[in-house]
Amino acid sequence: MAPSSTTGVSGLLSLTLSLLPLASAGAVCIPRQPACATVPSAAKYPTWSQLPLQTTMPDPFLPLAYTTTDNAGNSTTFAQDVMTGKAKGRIQTPEEWYRCRQPEIIQMLQEYHLETVKATRSGNTVNIEVTAGGKTGKFSATLALPSGASSSKPAPVVINIGGMNNAPYLQAGIAIVGFDYTRVASDSNARTGAFWDIYKGRDIGALAAWAWGFHRTLDALNATVPEIDSKRVGVTGCSRLGKGALAAGLLDKRITLTMPMSSGVQGLGPYRYHAMSGQDETLENSKAGAPWWSDNTLGTFVNHAENLPYDAHTIAAALAPRALVIDQGTGDPFTNSKATAVIVFPAAKLVYDFLGAGDKIAMSVRTGGHCDMSGFDSVLPYVKHILLGATLTKNYTDLGSYGSPIASAYPWATAVPKLY
Ligand SMILES: *[C@@H]1O[C@H](CO)[C@@H](O)[C@H](O)[C@H]1NC(C)=O
Ligand SMILES: *[C@@H]1O[C@H](CO)[C@@H](O)[C@H](O)[C@H]1NC(C)=O
Ligand SMILES: *[C@@H]1O[C@H](CO)[C@@H](O)[C@H](O)[C@H]1NC(C)=O
Repeated sequence: MAPSSTTGVSGLLSLTLSLLPLASAGAVCIPRQPACATVPSAAKYPTWSQLPLQTTMPDPFLPLAYTTTDNAGNSTTFAQDVMTGKAKGRIQTPEEWYRCRQPEIIQMLQEYHLETVKATRSGNTVNIEVTAGGKTGKFSATLALPSGASSSKPAPVVINIGGMNNAPYLQAGIAIVGFDYTRVASDSNARTGAFWDIYKGRDIGALAAWAWGFHRTLDALNATVPEIDSKRVGVTGCSRLGKGALAAGLLDKRITLTMPMSSGVQGLGPYRYHAMSGQDETLENSKAGAPWWSDNTLGTFVNHAENLPYDAHTIAAALAPRALVIDQGTGDPFTNSKATAVIVFPAAKLVYDFLGAGDKIAMSVRTGGHCDMSGFDSVLPYVKHILLGATLTKNYTDLGSYGSPIASAYPWATAVPKLY
């Protein structure tokens, strides 16, 4: 699990600003504003042993700068003063609270238990700097904006790793943003990149780390690119990067549409029925080939894949009611395109139907092989439907040459709970 799948903390800072009381109209005498207490710089916050022991609830009016054991002349009663509202330097007015103390609390929370995301934009590059627990990781994202996108007419966006065919998307009015996933987390046991600069030593897989990259990119876009509408967001990638895009969609409800392409096992290829397309990607060979994609817990199911309490359809269903379009090529037997189409998709759709969201899951069966760029054309009508409200021009329940669903693989289909 990624350490942070929550809304970017950067949002909290603007929230703070919006809570500032508006100056009332008319002639009001504004008293001189006292300076705010100094806030420590990142990673220089006091450690537990530099803070007074407080056995009662800390005084919310006391800035951190005055919450130190050596303040107030080394008084032996200092800790007692801190706890009972007698310390020096306390906030005195609502104006000071909003201007000084509330932002300080937010910064302090970020330092002690949340992540901070700082983003700066330079043309079509967005530089992203994430700090947590005193450690910082940096990477950047590249923007391609459709013509006509502006802050008054923001475009939806597809964030991708590994590249896609941008042109038809840009023509449709959809922005494309990419980031170098290897700069977020290496596709290897080396565990290098921005994510590991912060979370080194944790048992987390590269798929979750890449998902984190998508989320922090979205934080940064929201903060610095007003030509993009952060409420209409697709995520995509192919093969191992499709597994990562799927994880990104699962772990962040801000993502409107998840678009895994040729994603295979640990994506939307099933652990069960793995040989249905003639080749055989399995939990076993995927864990042996690239153990770093997932955490060690999944490894404990090697040779016990049929004991897993879920499969790819369960993962897909967990996205509902948010939109999902699954792309697979008939010339891609290794990622088990057929079983994804005839088992995973219809089984997940039963849950989407149960939730009244049956139109939010789509299956694109196309010709062509693994990661063929034609997959992006194949899903585009659905992407336009979800992100632009366009009328759907293609049938995404049609399984093409694969024919019909194989319902014997999900025998509970006859017993889907009914609401009436
Ligand atoms: C974007 O930022 C605003 C203001 O900080 C915040 O309220 C909103 O939730 C953010 N949206 C997304 C999609 O992150
Ligand atoms: C603070 O008090 C402690 C204990 O009384 C003493 O050892 C120390 O020297 C004092 N520090 C200062 C700066 O006066
Ligand atoms: C879509 O395709 C499915 C499967 O071939 C078919 O049952 C259904 O009627 C089609 N829907 C439309 C609207 O054509």
